[in-house]
Amino acid sequence: MRLYVNIDHVATVRQARRTDEPDPVRGAVLAELGGADGITIHLREDRRHIQDRDVDLLMDTARTPINLEIAASVQMVELACSWRPAQATLVPEKREEVTTEGGLSLRTEAQRGPVGAATRTLQDLGIRTSLFIDPDEDAIRASADLGVAAVELHTGEFANSDGAERAEQLTRLSEAASFAHAAGLAVHAGHGLTYENVTPVAAIAEVEELNIGHSVISRAVFVGLERAVRDMAEILRRARAS
Ligand code: PXP
Repeated sequence: MRLYVNIDHVATVRQARRTDEPDPVRGAVLAELGGADGITIHLREDRRHIQDRDVDLLMDTARTPINLEIAASVQMVELACSWRPAQATLVPEKREEVTTEGGLSLRTEAQRGPVGAATRTLQDLGIRTSLFIDPDEDAIRASADLGVAAVELHTGEFANSDGAERAEQLTRLSEAASFAHAAGLAVHAGHGLTYENVTPVAAIAEVEELNIGHSVISRAVFVGLERAVRDMAEILRRARAS
């Protein structure tokens, strides 16, 4: 189980004042010292948090793999190809959303076309490519058909539910993870995961990577980023051990 720490919200605080602190590049160093297995950043088309300069510097300085989240647009794929991160995750992007709201829609040929083209371009350059999708069989089948290495299952609905509904969402995630694994895909998961809700998701055997951002950065405000990452890594370790 790998913990990839999403450091977008270090940049969110910086962009609130359009100044030069806190620097997500320093954030990556501390996340790595705390035990992050990789660093995730989402370069949004509106550049609301991570900037091109951050990706430039992180590509030079990070000691762990960079997972670059991008929309499947020609411009973003070109940028990703110039940086060549270890991994790219293709995500849907709407300007008006506060955060990524749902997984990629892959129902129609018109929807699959740009995602497939982006996947081929990235994977031809050796960039491991993952698709952020809802935990549904149709989306998993479409992803496998597109030839990606991995899917990241959207855990937002699980995170936003409680009681019986949460149990149902956990079953949905677990079944989707088995289905994706059986289809030959590596299984990642993320979105809305917190210190309180992550354990049952981390315990799903087929999930090999979690991408966690907001909750870790929120805790880091009070305890520091290195400790916040260490605390999360320890929860994941215990979830797998039990
Ligand atoms: N995975 C993907 C694809 C995302 O877009 C995000 C949010 O940027 C995350 C994981 C992390 O979500 P959170 O910040 O809620 O942990």
